[in-house]
Amino acid sequence: MNPVYEKLMQCYASFQKKIAFKPQVAIVLGSGLGDYADDIRVEAELDYHEIEGFPVSTVPGHAGKFIFGYVKDVPVVCMKGRVHYYEGYPISDVVLPVRLMKLMGAKILFLTNASGGINPSFTAGDFMMLTDHISMWAPNPLIGANIDELGVRFPDMTHVYDEDLQGVLRKAAEKCNVSLKEGVYAQLTGPSFESPAEIQLLHRLGVSAVGMSTVVEAIAANHMGMKICCISCVCNLAAGMTDNPLTHEEVQEAANAAAPKFRSLVSEAVADFKPFL
Ligand code: HPA
Repeated sequence: MNPVYEKLMQCYASFQKKIAFKPQVAIVLGSGLGDYADDIRVEAELDYHEIEGFPVSTVPGHAGKFIFGYVKDVPVVCMKGRVHYYEGYPISDVVLPVRLMKLMGAKILFLTNASGGINPSFTAGDFMMLTDHISMWAPNPLIGANIDELGVRFPDMTHVYDEDLQGVLRKAAEKCNVSLKEGVYAQLTGPSFESPAEIQLLHRLGVSAVGMSTVVEAIAANHMGMKICCISCVCNLAAGMTDNPLTHEEVQEAANAAAPKFRSLVSEAVADFKPFL
């Protein structure tokens, strides 16, 4: 068996032994949304350590867990803590959690992240819905023998971010009185922030926000036929756009400040995903 698929199935078997819950929506919580789990009627939790073969962060206290429960009456699984490529994992491990959530039953993947804003009309604290992405710097997670059980060799990427779900997010933002920007997101590997010259390059390429996650997960989920949407919390203006040096603390603070709005937006949207499940 393909070793990547074998590892995934080992994780799935381990999950099945412990959890009977069947989620319909998978939510990946980016920086600042970590407390979103407080808004969920929790039914079960599964620490990443408890899943045999699951990629677990070596940084103490950063392991993370799956949270199973209901947002309104929609069964969801939430990833509290994601795996980043810059931590040194193979790219197949970075996308394993998303693949696993599809096997658990999730049809929709709701990704969230923190980003640096490149569009000059953005300010820190804005939310941007992804309409498309550019990922030519992080390795493609589908490289290697195709796993036919998951999807086709050459998946189409014309509509990664589902048009119907984009419509739901726009309406949810209106209801929550949140101004929702839209644009193209680029994933770079990190962990260093970009240089001002790199940001100028991305701007010329039509990128509105930049970050260190999400796109590889969206590619793997699209390969498996999931419906995908993503909201990015623009936590800072990207390098060279202001005089301020960038720090992780600044990003974290901005994400925390935006969290209450972010949470209501996510809950409102998930409840309205029902017709698309
Ligand atoms: N660059 C990359 N990733 C980020 C940024 C940034 O400016 N802000 C938050 N995540």
